Amino acid sequence: MKVLFIGDIVGNIGRSAVKVLLPPVVSRYKIDFVIANGENAAGGFGITEQVAAEIFNVGIHVITSGNHIWDKKEAIPFIAKDHRVLRPLNYPPGVPGSGSVVCSHHGVKVAVINLSGRVFMTSVDCPFRVGMGEIERLLNDTNLIIIDFHGEATSEKIAFGYYVDGKVSAVIGTHTHVQTADEKILPGGTAYITDVGMTGPAVSVIGIEKDQIIERFLYQMPRKFDTAKGNGIFSAVVVEIDEKKGKSTAIQRLQLTYP
Ligand SMILES: [Fe+2]
Ligand SMILES: [Fe+2]
Repeated sequence: MKVLFIGDIVGNIGRSAVKVLLPPVVSRYKIDFVIANGENAAGGFGITEQVAAEIFNVGIHVITSGNHIWDKKEAIPFIAKDHRVLRPLNYPPGVPGSGSVVCSHHGVKVAVINLSGRVFMTSVDCPFRVGMGEIERLLNDTNLIIIDFHGEATSEKIAFGYYVDGKVSAVIGTHTHVQTADEKILPGGTAYITDVGMTGPAVSVIGIEKDQIIERFLYQMPRKFDTAKGNGIFSAVVVEIDEKKGKSTAIQRLQLTYP
C-alpha cells in the first residue's frame, strides 16, 4: 500500500496547490490512501466544515491537525462529530473530537493517530505514554498505523520515532512547516521523517506574510497575521507499506511548486 502524507495545508494557496497537484501525484506514485494535516487550512488558522469538505472532495481520506485546530471556534462542534478530522489524541480527557481513526480502504484497515509534542508547545498529556497506549489498543484491529506527530522540537519527534519503531508503519512529523531531509526507515521497519513541511505560500515565514513576521521580531508587539500571497509549494512524503506486516519498505520526500 502506498500512502501519501501532505504537510500542513496553509490557506487558499495551499488548498489550490492540493487541488491541482494531488491528482497527478496520486496517479504517478500509484497512491492508495491520502492523509493531510489541515490545521492551517482555513486562512492559515484552523479549519472549518466547508474547508474540510473541500479537502475531502479532492481525494483526501483523513485530515490531521495540531495546536491550530481550535482557531475557528465555530468549527468545534464539527470537529467533535466528524471522525475523519483528528485533533491531537493527548489533549486532556473531555476535549471534543477524536485523536485517532480506523478507516477501511478497499478491505484494508488503516489507522491514523494524531499526537502533539509538548516541548515548546501547549502542555498536553505525555505523547509517548498516550501514544503507546493507543498503538497497543489499535494493534488488536490493524497493524497498519500511521502517526502524525505534531511537534516543535526535533529531539522529541526523533525520540518518539525510535520509541514506537517496529510497532507502527510510519511516524510523520508536522508543525514546523519546514521539510527536513532525514526521511528513513528505522531499524524496526517504521518510516520516519522529522517534518514533512508545508503546503502553502512559498515566499513567506512558515505561511505568513514575511514583513508581518519580521515586524513582530523587531518590535515584539502583537499584530494581525495574514497568510502570504503568491506562488505555492506542495510538501509531502510517499510511504510504501507492506500491508501484511504493517512495516514500511520506502519513504520518499516530495516538494513541488505551484502553479
Ligand atoms: Fe501548521
Ligand atoms: Fe502547528
